[in-house]
Amino acid sequence: MSLLTDLSGRFAAAFESLGLDPALGAVTVSDRPDLAQFQCNGALAAAKPAARAPGDIAQDVIEAVADPAVFAALEIAGPGFINIKLNDDFIGRRLADLARDDRFGHAARSTDGKVLIDFGGPNVAKAMHVGHLRPSLIGDSLQRVFRFAGYDVISDIHFGDWGTQMGQLIMEAELRKPDLPYFDIDFAGPYPTDSPFTLDDLEEMYPAVAARTKADPAEADRARQATLELQQGRPGYRALWQHFWDVSHDAQKRDFDQLGIVFDLWHGESTVHDRVAPMLRRIQAGGGATEDAGALIVEVAEPDDTKDIPPLLLMKSDGGYLYGTTDLATIDDRIEMGVVEALYVVDARQSLHFEQVFRAAFKTGVAPESTVLEHVPFGTVNGPDGKPFKTRVGGVLRLHDLIGQVRSAAIKRLDEAALAIDYPEAERREIAKKVGLAALKYGDLSNNRTSDYILDLERFTSFEGKTGPYLLYGAVRIKSILRKAAELDLSPGPIIAPGKDAERALMLELTRFPEVLDRTVDLRAPNHLAEYAYDIVTAFNRFYEACHILREEDADRQASWLGLVDLTLRLLALVLDLLGIEVPERM
Ligand code: ARG
Repeated sequence: MSLLTDLSGRFAAAFESLGLDPALGAVTVSDRPDLAQFQCNGALAAAKPAARAPGDIAQDVIEAVADPAVFAALEIAGPGFINIKLNDDFIGRRLADLARDDRFGHAARSTDGKVLIDFGGPNVAKAMHVGHLRPSLIGDSLQRVFRFAGYDVISDIHFGDWGTQMGQLIMEAELRKPDLPYFDIDFAGPYPTDSPFTLDDLEEMYPAVAARTKADPAEADRARQATLELQQGRPGYRALWQHFWDVSHDAQKRDFDQLGIVFDLWHGESTVHDRVAPMLRRIQAGGGATEDAGALIVEVAEPDDTKDIPPLLLMKSDGGYLYGTTDLATIDDRIEMGVVEALYVVDARQSLHFEQVFRAAFKTGVAPESTVLEHVPFGTVNGPDGKPFKTRVGGVLRLHDLIGQVRSAAIKRLDEAALAIDYPEAERREIAKKVGLAALKYGDLSNNRTSDYILDLERFTSFEGKTGPYLLYGAVRIKSILRKAAELDLSPGPIIAPGKDAERALMLELTRFPEVLDRTVDLRAPNHLAEYAYDIVTAFNRFYEACHILREEDADRQASWLGLVDLTLRLLALVLDLLGIEVPERM
């Protein structure tokens, strides 16, 4: 049980014993840490319905809750706030418990089914770029957080691999290499195993053909026709499409590997293709869809909408399916997998799309009413000019190149700070990689999810300030303290009551984890954990300055301090891991 839950429970019982609403017993961390550690404001809210002065109620609550084994001081402040200070022995016991608990006080949460996190969302024929940074990092952190919180999580990349773009690419491929066997309807196979195009080729081909089909309706028709034939299973097109898929997947997978991001499912739009026709039949039979000039739509507007929500188009009059169609079929698929909650970590610009799809899912009965379908949007990564990030020559920065840049910046920083100087080259490279990724991930995740931020590698890679490298350095220093102690044959022991302010402050900081984690889950917002990692390191640094561990003469106290150091390290490493950040052994 978390410390706040424990304290709130005690106050709730006190309110209840006075005939008052136990919910008023909620205890929070004090917003005046100079005066108190915690506070309870319930007496103020109780005053009116009870027709009593809040100060009197507070006095009664204090008498009812008082327990010298738990509280060192309970004082009324202002009109009826209760300021709370804990007994040091009680704090020591809580910390000793915490040190033995691998959930760090967090009570596991669950749902009656699976939680799906849809994030990353790259497309065939496109290398990942800086725009993929936020969905990837936020989505990965959320999958880690939800999993640790106790949920049964599945992550899925939802690869964009099935729209008209695929037909366009096939058309362009034929234009460029007409002699390839993929276009010959009589070719009996087998098709070549190596892709005739690289991802670079595809990246160049796609805009060219997209522009042509946009300008010329006849070309657009051909692309639609090619898409249809692909979707209907024309062997040469399928084989060619598979090459597109493979080269795109391989490059993107390499980027995700570099970022340390793993998906449970690499499903895509194509995965649900065979589901669409039966789903549409069901929807039509159920009366959830309307025919409109040969097309099939679902009306999703509600009477109390404040903005216009157009119908979701499920099938065009030529029989083609759309982005929304595959998204609906994907929900169908996910429901079958046992998903009860699906979070879509996707750019805010797609919010109308998801509003339409989710409404349609409920309206057509594809998703049961109890399903949680939620779009988790995020802000934009901007350049120094405050506009969406561009390279110096005005292009989009590839994720691969960005990772390379941040790694070089990290090496430079290590040199400047004279860190890891005489380590073997391979280890140094490994450290630089971790520092670089920590810089990038913390620079992103420390921002409010929905805010835009400026990508500033200079600031992100600094070892000073609220940065990934600063936190890594903090964690590595804690490791080295424990190593040094071990060399002196000193090991962590049971944690006892704090004696010094900075020690007590660190202890109380470490008890906050359950609430921070829950807030991160509830708000789908890793920035709360990011902030907490910084708070832990700050509290630890103060403690380390105030308590001279290796010189301490009282052996129990010294062992307790080392126990606290060890607990701090384990919790900090967990918090960083939940942000997707790895700590090197040394630096
Ligand atoms: N591939 C899409 C895009 O580039 C993002 C996919 C998001 N997920 C989803 N289920 N629609 O915009």
